[in-house]
Amino acid sequence: MAAIELVNLTKKFNGFAAVDGITLTIQEGELFGLLGPNGAGKTTTISMLATMLKPTTGSATVNGVSIAQEDAVRKSIGIVFQDPSLDDELTGEENLDFHGRLYHMPKTVREQRMQEVLRLVELEDKARQQVKTYSGGMKRRLEIARGLMHRPKILFLDEPTLGMDPQTRRSIWEYTQKLNKQEKVTIVLTTHYMEEADYLCGRIAIIDKGKIIALDTPANLKNSMGGDIVMLETPDAEKLKGVLTPAWIKGMKLLDGTLSVTVSNGETAVPKILDIARLHGIAIRAVSLKKPNLEDVFIHYTGRTIREEEASAVDTMRLRMKMGWRR
Ligand SMILES: Nc1ncnc2c1ncn2[C@@H]1O[C@H](COP(=O)(O)OP(=O)(O)OP(=O)(O)O)[C@@H](O)[C@H]1O
Ligand SMILES: [Mg+2]
Repeated sequence: MAAIELVNLTKKFNGFAAVDGITLTIQEGELFGLLGPNGAGKTTTISMLATMLKPTTGSATVNGVSIAQEDAVRKSIGIVFQDPSLDDELTGEENLDFHGRLYHMPKTVREQRMQEVLRLVELEDKARQQVKTYSGGMKRRLEIARGLMHRPKILFLDEPTLGMDPQTRRSIWEYTQKLNKQEKVTIVLTTHYMEEADYLCGRIAIIDKGKIIALDTPANLKNSMGGDIVMLETPDAEKLKGVLTPAWIKGMKLLDGTLSVTVSNGETAVPKILDIARLHGIAIRAVSLKKPNLEDVFIHYTGRTIREEEASAVDTMRLRMKMGWRR
């Protein structure tokens, strides 16, 4: 069954289309990623699905309910915002309890559920401490726990690991997978980290300038780039090019004594290529294998890297600061 359906969903801010006609279906049980650079429209998209923002045109349903029915939708979803929204002065438990009250959960249910979600994110020990004593990763876990208090069927995670160190990021990834697999929560996350989308998500929509530019499993997206590239350094590059005739070779490029060979599976192709070279007495000085990643996919469709986008956003920020501008 479809958990979420977007039909031509569009959000304009003063005529500027932040989300520009997105049509997309996410099935129940998916761990789905919206991947895109700063300003791509990720937060705006999930804000509309979470009924925090009204679309300009188009429609969407969440758990079969139109997003126009705000209360009904909100009851069935949890959301963890990009910007932290915990009360630092309160303890972990108090933050969760407050959320439970907002959702009109009776006291006994609140208390039981609180223990469950705290156990899930392994924060039982810290539950009675003020949130200001938590590390960044612990705060994020508490936010996830809070998003789960009312047993939502769908959880939206907006940039769940933004600015986190690799270790904390790993632990958030583990909880996210656990929620999806064990608790059967449908998860929609946004990220501009390619590794995150690649590692975690079953399917990814790459979005840029408010539009979906590619949508598939990470493996299919990468495979659609044509295959792995085996780079061979040899003094006999021309000769090697001439003898590499098997049908599994999809393409070859010779540049500065390096022969780049495109194949569908680099790991199995390398030994075969080396065998052929040996057979013809061709010495190979070095071999390297490049597998396409989601960055290559993004470049393929946009002509830019996600990192360039980020760098320019940082530059803009620096400029703003230098000029004394405020956001
Ligand atoms: N309330 C608003 N008013 C005007 N413009 C907005 C508003 N909210 C977002 N935008 C603009 O819409 C575009 C998409 O913003 P959005 O926050 O959805 O991007 P994002 O993909 O979440 O980016 P990031 O990776 O930085 O979180 C940006 O150009 C942003 O400046
Ligand atoms: Mg965002």
